[in-house]
Amino acid sequence: MTGDLVRAIVQSMKMSTDLEKKFQEQITLEFAASLTYRQLAIEADEQDLPGIAAWLRHQADEEIVHANKFIQHVSDRDNHAAIGTITAPAVAPGLTVLEIFEAALAHEQKVSEAIRELYRSADKEGDYDSRPLLNWFVDEQIEEEATVSEIIGRVRMIGEDGSGLLRLDSELGARPAKGTEADAE
Ligand SMILES: [Fe+2]
Repeated sequence: MTGDLVRAIVQSMKMSTDLEKKFQEQITLEFAASLTYRQLAIEADEQDLPGIAAWLRHQADEEIVHANKFIQHVSDRDNHAAIGTITAPAVAPGLTVLEIFEAALAHEQKVSEAIRELYRSADKEGDYDSRPLLNWFVDEQIEEEATVSEIIGRVRMIGEDGSGLLRLDSELGARPAKGTEADAE
């Protein structure tokens, strides 16, 4: 009787195989996002913009934190968190600063849509256990897109003004740490 009860509880907590697969894809996407930011940081570094490069590396570390959040959730649900194939970041060499941030925004928009899709799948299955986590990610994506959009607006305003770019570089390099793995740097 107790065994049956325990089994019933475990079964209700566990997510479906289909949802598990979608979470695994999201874990892979977060790691891929980290590598994209890491590559964009290299591009900024090569243009002697250490502040922007540091900001992008910080973003890269945040994506690892995101992946870890999903891994933790899947493991806590008694499912299996597998990391899938990660392809090389689609970042062309020699991007302008504007193009670097436009690439970052495009990637964030892709991640936002993937989170919405995950939300739809969870909702369709009545998987309420994943809602708090997915709500956190919906909020996080709104914030990420808004932040990158604001930087793009400022880069456009700066245009060819070198001193403006240097000001933005030092400002982004000094951004306060948010308690991620990046703090260890
Ligand atoms: Fe993320």
